[in-house]
Amino acid sequence: MENAWTLMRARHSVRNYVNRPIEEEKLAALREAIDEVNREALLHVQLFTEEPEAFNANAPHYGQFRGCRNYFAMVGPKEADEAIGYYGEKLVLLAQELGLNTCWVALTFRRNAVAVEIAADEKLHVVIALGYGETQGVPHKSKDVSAVSNLTADSPAWFRAGVEAALLAPTAINQQKFSFTLNGRRVRARTKLTFYGRMDLGIAKYHFELGAGKENFDWA
Ligand SMILES: Cc1cc2nc3c(=O)[nH]c(=O)nc-3n(C[C@H](O)[C@H](O)[C@H](O)COP(=O)(O)O)c2cc1C
Repeated sequence: MENAWTLMRARHSVRNYVNRPIEEEKLAALREAIDEVNREALLHVQLFTEEPEAFNANAPHYGQFRGCRNYFAMVGPKEADEAIGYYGEKLVLLAQELGLNTCWVALTFRRNAVAVEIAADEKLHVVIALGYGETQGVPHKSKDVSAVSNLTADSPAWFRAGVEAALLAPTAINQQKFSFTLNGRRVRARTKLTFYGRMDLGIAKYHFELGAGKENFDWA
């Protein structure tokens, strides 16, 4: 992956898309990554392209969205919220690397219009809008590192980097209700039980690993 920091800093939610199909070689790269994620995490992520119904792409606006014709349908076991977050963000940053824009979407899509395969023990958790944005979006307001961690002046540099990376992560309604506590080389990641809190935590943990370096710590 291209420098992960560059990708994490450049990613912002984008809700307005131009009508430009995603090139076949980019779709191939995304499909390969989806296959890997589904094998590794036992998820059932599916990619939809040139499919206007979920976001009513032919209408001028649907909720806050305009022109979205591509999306990942994030399907998986009913209790897999954290894995959906973690692996979904992996796909989001790959999309960013391919020059595409994204937005996690829990609510503002037409759930019944998604022709998705869902097995008995699974559900469609969320979708992730995908495509060429009209703009690159804007950075979100962020909490301070001290509000979401036990960072002190003596903490190792990798811990600060992990927390800073987590603060770049998307969260539902930008709530950033996660926290990271360092004890020795163990990091405990926690979330308040809120709207999509566990999914946000999975997303934030993926960022934390990219920022901190997986070799420096273990999850508690
Ligand atoms: C799990 C999850 C669900 C989200 N659901 C929606 C949604 O339904 N509609 C929407 O417009 N944005 C949604 N978002 C996008 C957030 O509002 C956005 O990530 C947050 O405001 C931070 O902005 P950024 O992604 O540009 O950094 C969702 C984000 C996450 C992580």
